[in-house]
Parts: sequence; structure tokens; C-alpha cells
Amino acid sequence: MRDATPTTIYLSDYTPFGFLVDSVHLTFDLSEHATRVTSRIAFRPNPQATDKTFFLHGENIKLIHALIDGAPVTPAVKENGLTASVPNAPFIWEAEVEIDPGNNTALEGLYMSNGMYCTQCEAEGFRKITYYPDRPDVMSTFTVRINGDLPVLLSNGNPTAKGDGWAEWTDPWPKPAYLFALVAGELIAHPGQFTTRSGRDVELNLWVRPGDEGKCAFGMEALKRSIKWDEDVYGREYDLDVFNIVAVDDFNMGAMENKGLNIFNSSAVLASPETSTDANFERIEAIIAHEYFHNWTGNRITCRDWFQLCLKEGLTVFRDAQFTSDMRSAPVKRIHDVIDLRARQFPEDNGPLSHPVRPESFQEINNFYTATVYEKGAEVIGMLKTLVGDEAYSKALDLYFERHDGQACTIENWLKVFEDTTGRDLTQFKRWYSQSGTPRVTVEDDWADGIYTLTLSQSTPPTPGQTDKQPQVIPVAVGLLGPNGDEVRGTEVLELTGERQRFSFEDLAAKPVPSILRGFSAPVILEHNRSNTERAFLLAHDTDPFNRWEAGRALAQNTLLRMITQDEAPDAQYLDGLLAVLRDADLDPAYRALMLGLPTQSELAAALHEQGETPDPMAIWRAVETLRQATAQHMQDLLPRLQSEALVDGPYSPDAEQAGKRALGSAALALTTRLDGGAMAAEVYAKADNMTLQLSALSCLLRAGKGQAELAAFYDQWHHDRLVLDKWFGLQASLAAPDDAPRIARALTEHPDFNWKNPNRFRALLGGLAMNHAGFHHASGQSYALLADWLIRLDPVNPQTTARMCTAFQIWKRYDADRQDLIRAQLTRVAETPNLSRDTTEMVSRILGT
Ligand code: BES
Ligand code: ZN
Repeated sequence: MRDATPTTIYLSDYTPFGFLVDSVHLTFDLSEHATRVTSRIAFRPNPQATDKTFFLHGENIKLIHALIDGAPVTPAVKENGLTASVPNAPFIWEAEVEIDPGNNTALEGLYMSNGMYCTQCEAEGFRKITYYPDRPDVMSTFTVRINGDLPVLLSNGNPTAKGDGWAEWTDPWPKPAYLFALVAGELIAHPGQFTTRSGRDVELNLWVRPGDEGKCAFGMEALKRSIKWDEDVYGREYDLDVFNIVAVDDFNMGAMENKGLNIFNSSAVLASPETSTDANFERIEAIIAHEYFHNWTGNRITCRDWFQLCLKEGLTVFRDAQFTSDMRSAPVKRIHDVIDLRARQFPEDNGPLSHPVRPESFQEINNFYTATVYEKGAEVIGMLKTLVGDEAYSKALDLYFERHDGQACTIENWLKVFEDTTGRDLTQFKRWYSQSGTPRVTVEDDWADGIYTLTLSQSTPPTPGQTDKQPQVIPVAVGLLGPNGDEVRGTEVLELTGERQRFSFEDLAAKPVPSILRGFSAPVILEHNRSNTERAFLLAHDTDPFNRWEAGRALAQNTLLRMITQDEAPDAQYLDGLLAVLRDADLDPAYRALMLGLPTQSELAAALHEQGETPDPMAIWRAVETLRQATAQHMQDLLPRLQSEALVDGPYSPDAEQAGKRALGSAALALTTRLDGGAMAAEVYAKADNMTLQLSALSCLLRAGKGQAELAAFYDQWHHDRLVLDKWFGLQASLAAPDDAPRIARALTEHPDFNWKNPNRFRALLGGLAMNHAGFHHASGQSYALLADWLIRLDPVNPQTTARMCTAFQIWKRYDADRQDLIRAQLTRVAETPNLSRDTTEMVSRILGT
């Protein structure tokens, strides 16, 4: 049964729970369709709380019996929990419940994946395991006994006892229930070891299904690097005797930071050169680091309530980005992150789903694990660090860990440690947490008497529920270049706090060229009407690697928009500037590969919409094709040299240097394919001995409308490997020519390997289609209908993944009236589906604006 009228939860309604939990003892008797969970929980009245209602969450569980201080009680059981009358003194609650993991397709709570028991409790999944105050501010130690006829039985903390068919685990660190985890199955350990800087020996294990042993080595090394990095950079040590990671095939998200027992989507941890691309390796390294870093930012210090989600996620994303920058190339990582922010967060912040980094209300918390909370949340921390400086940042963090260890905190607690260490008033800065929408920063400049003046203005367009925006604190990193390309002023951070502000630079010999928002110092849209000549100058000379890339990006976007709206030819300044950069063998190959990138078609649609035009997906697609062709021709002579610079000697390694070379090689191959019709790509495909090359060659062929033989061979070679097969589905859906996309995607949904209940497979195919801009927005509306069909089908099985996929429609108001009608009809069809989940109901109604 589902809630017919979803309720809205408000941040302002927060009250502490009426009871504290001193200890939790759980016993699991595992059985596929009738697992028994016995709990023994020590409660005592919370002196801080006024409301002493004893309400325990519980969903989809059958209460067998309950006892208070050993005496049987009959609680009032409702759909979402139970209430009971309890003593106004410490007491012991005991309950036995029955659950059905074998039929849990939502993958929340205790469920089964390939015969293995596993759990996912964040955000509110623990209530599907037993009755409990399932809220992050209730923290307790846990002891868990697992009885089950399986060789490996795992839970949080340290192993304390075991025998044949059972194991006991004790987690000494108080934690909220969302960090609880249990795994039971036939698993094989890839072991490792780490000695912390204070001399604690930690046993590490990466647990996988038989057959996956060969894909563990990289993840284990990444884990060790992460542990070391958090000691070196943040001074944080690991705090248990063991750290376990388990790979599961059926998982809604990427991975989960359960205390001492991280659970990973197998796609986010398993890797081998033959089956994983360089990008997969980099993502795996980042996710392992991210979940490990949560041990301090999330677990030791957790969130008071789910509105504070960015407290742990924004900070941990920021930390994992720092880690990746240190392990690889900082400028390349920054550019990747900005590409991602613009691709995922900007559409969210500028559409119907716009919400603040700290939302103030929700119906279903699962819908708020968003790019805004995560990626904009991380940007906000980056700005804070820029404003206070590196030293103050690290002092503030030390204070944060010292002051709040073991607590469930708020953004107010977080900001206070910065105020207390720096003496800065962060009242205005705090608007980054409460105000939604992407600020626009416009630039005007003036040159007179050796004084150069920049006038910066800010404004944020209205967003749902927020019409009146106040100015924010925007750190704008600026440098100035002289006419010969030398830097005449190094990077300086201007603090834009008002609606309009002037900043002057004196004693300049000549009018400089400004490099503004260096390193993308704030998550804003910079509106700067400058000439393409100036942009080309920055592309050639900017000393800030981010802004140098950005100048090329702006030139590319500008020429594409003019090609689309004015039928212009590709801009020679862009092509010449690009050629010069690509020729420069002193530049990192990874960086040069990024230079060859173009704004996504979706971003171009957004830019046209900003200009007041109605984007035509086919016109955008054609412009990109034309520019690509022109680029290939313009670079014709350079391409063989790029190919040879991209050659890697020695065996495959996923490190940044080799990966950068392969990225440049792939970008060059894509251009070569436009000139040779795919001859070289077919050759590369035939010789490829790693997935990066194999996939890049296959992509080139498919984009050229070729590669059917290779596609079939790829299937024959890899159909036994779930993760590689996801790529096979994703590639076809995302690279199909616009007119073929709906048909190809539909045919793939009928393929026997389309196991749509597996979130990875579902996302590969339907997410791939949604990423195919012109194919998804096919004028027939067939792609919209196909996606809606599948959302309707998946919703009763897995609401969380369904709701996430609805975001493909969030950009619908950008397009023409016909497409809007088609999308509205599909969204309405989804909305009117009987018994639609709370997750999907909320998403569809927010997207529709109803
Ligand atoms: N805590 C989350 C996982 C999670 C999210 C659980 C939503 C339940 C609901 C985890 O730390 C996380 O953020 N994972 C990310 C990857 C990370 C590298 C940003 C994910 O799963 O995508
Ligand atoms: Zn996280």
C-alpha cells in the first residue's frame, strides 16, 4: 500500500527525537522470503526533547512480537511505523519482525542480488529492516549476530565472534541507522593491509563474486591511497580493525559508505584493463576515495537531518576532488568537474527542479541526492576555501573534527567553525545554501589614464518558490594579461558581494586583457560580451589552464551558435587557435584532448534558450557535425602526429599519463574517422587490447554510421560480462543517428539481455537514449514515449531509479511548442499511472510544475 497523499517534510519543523538510544543488538536469521530480525534496543528519555512520543519507523515489515522491559506489549502498528506507551525512564525495547528480502526489488533495506544478501539503508531504508527511530540524529553502537547458511557473513565494525553458520560483529562507534549494513553470500576476498600512522594494523578486504577476482587489484590500491591521503592531508586516521568493501550487481547508486562495510555497485569498483576504460578507472578511484572519506565526513560527524545532506556529501565530493587532483592532474580534474557541473547541475538549477544546496522541504528524500546538493555543495566549499585561504581552511577543519566528533550536525555548525577560526561573518555567504538558481555575473570594463576598471554585476533569475534573490558572496579570481601575452597581474580574488561593484587596477602600461573567473572560482554563468579576437588571445596566452580551456570553449560555443542561428561558416579564429594549441607538444595530452571537446548539444540548446531562441535539436546536431568535419579538415596534417604522440609504450596502466595520451589519441581518431571513413578506427578496433581503445574505436565507427560487424563481434566477445554489456547497450543508444535512435533503442529493449530490473542495465539503455540529444528529442516523440513506457514499467519495481530517470524531462520548457506538448503528454501519462510511487509522483509533478 502506498501513501495516496504524499506529505511534505520541512526543515523548519525539526524537533529532536524523544529518546536516546544507548545500544542496539540485532539478530538476523536469514531466509530468502522470511528473514527474522530480532532487535534489543536500550532507550532512555532524551532530556533535550519536549515531545516524548515513542514512534518507531517501520515499512513493509511484519511484527511478530514486541516486549518492553521483558513484558509483551501490543503497539499501535500503522503503515509507516508504530507507537507504544513507554516508561518515563530507561527501558529495553525488544521486537521480532519478518521481512522478505527475496521480493525486495526496490533495492532498499535488506534485499538479494545474485543469491547474496545485502543492504542499502541510506536514506530511510533501515525502517524496512526493523522498527527503529530511522533518523540520522539518533546514534548508537550496534552489535549484530547473523545466522545464515552462507560462507561469508559481514556487518559493520569489528568481527567479535563466529562459528559454523553464524558471525557476530560489534561496531564501537555510535552511528545512525542509515550506516547499518549486512552482507551474506558466497564471496571471495581480495585482501590487503594498511598500517595507520599511529601504528594500527587494519585488515582490508574487497569482497566479490567468484569470477570477479581478477578485477580487484586496482580498487584495493585506490583504497590504500585514499587512506594514506586522508592521513596526510586532513590528519584523519581510520578507526576500526577491518575495512570491508563488497561489490554487488544490483544497486541503485554508485556506492555507500556504511561504517567499516562499504557496499559498491560492481560498476563502481571492479576494473580490469580488458573490461574497463580509463574513465572507469578514474571514476572507481574517486568513488572508493569518496566513500572512504565519509568515515570522517559523514560517519564520525553525521547529519542532524536529511536537509543537511550537503554537510556530508558536498564536503566529501570536495575532498574526493582534491584527492583526484593530487593523484592526477589538477587542471584536468577541474575542467572535468566544470563540464560535469554544467551538464548536470546547471540544467537542474535553471529548470523546474531547482532547489537550494540545503533544501527546505521534500516529499521523498531520495529525490534530493542531486547534482545541486553534491556538486554545487562541493563548489560552495571550494569558494569558502578560496575566501579564507588554505591555512584557515585547514584550521577550520581541525576545529570541526575536534568540536563535532560523534555528533549529528547542521550547516550552521559547519559555518561556525569557519567564523570562529577566521573571525569572518558568513551571514551573507550562507545564502549559497539557501538560495537556488545559478547567479549570472556580467562584466563591463573601462580603460583610462593607466587605470583598468572592471565592473561586475550579479543577478539570479527567479526559481520555483524563490522570486526575490539577494546578492551572494562571489569570489571572482582575476588575472590580467598584457598586449604581448605576458601576465601583468597575477591571480587575485575579487569579492563580489553587492549587486554591482567596481574593481580598479592601477599603474598599467597598456590596456590589459582580463582573464576572469580563473579556475572557475564560483559556480556562476559569466556573461561577458568580448570579441572572438580577445578569446583567441586568451586561448593562446592565458596562464590559467582552466581559463585557457574556457576561452577555446567559448569560441567553439560562439561559432556553433552563429552557425545555428545565422547559418555562418565555422569560425577561422576558433579553428586556427585550436590548431595552435594542439600543436604545442609541451602541453599535457589530456589537456589537449579536452581542448578538442565541444559544448554538449544539450548545453547549446540551453544557450539558445538563454538568448531567447527556440532550440532545434536537428539544427544543433547538424552544426556540431559541420564543425567537427571542418575541424578534421583543418587539422588534417597534424592528426598523424597527434596519433604518434598518443602512443603508449609498455603495458597498459590506468595512470593519468597513459590515460591522457589515450584520450588525445581517441580525440584524434574521431577526427581522422571523418576523413578516412573509418579505416583507421577499424584497424584500431581490430588491434585493441584494452577496453579504452576498443570502445573509442567502436564509438568512432558507430558515429560514422559504420561498425555493425564490430558491434556484433563486441557482443560475442563480451556478452558474458555484465559491466561490458552495459557499455554495449549504452553506446548504441547514445550514438545512434537522430533518426535511428528511437527504433534502435526500442529494439534494444526487446533484446534478451535487457535485464531491465538491474539499474545499471536500465540506465545504460534509457539513460543512453536520453543523452542522445537529437535522438531523444526526435520530432516524432517516439523516444519520449519509449522512456515514459519504461518509467511506468519500472516504477512499481524500483521507484528510486525511476524517479532519477525522470530528470531526462526536466529541460522540456526549452523546446518548441510541439515538443513541449509531446513531453507534457508523456509526463501526464506517467503522473496518472495508478499507484505511482511517492518518488516518481514528486518528480513528475515538480517537472510539470503542478
Ligand atoms: N551516501 C551516498 C550513497 C547514497 C546516495 C545512498 C543516495 C543512498 C541514497 C554515497 O556516499 C555517494 O554519494 N555516492 C555517489 C558517488 C560519489 C562519488 C559522489 C553515488 O552513489 O553516485
Ligand atoms: Zn557520498
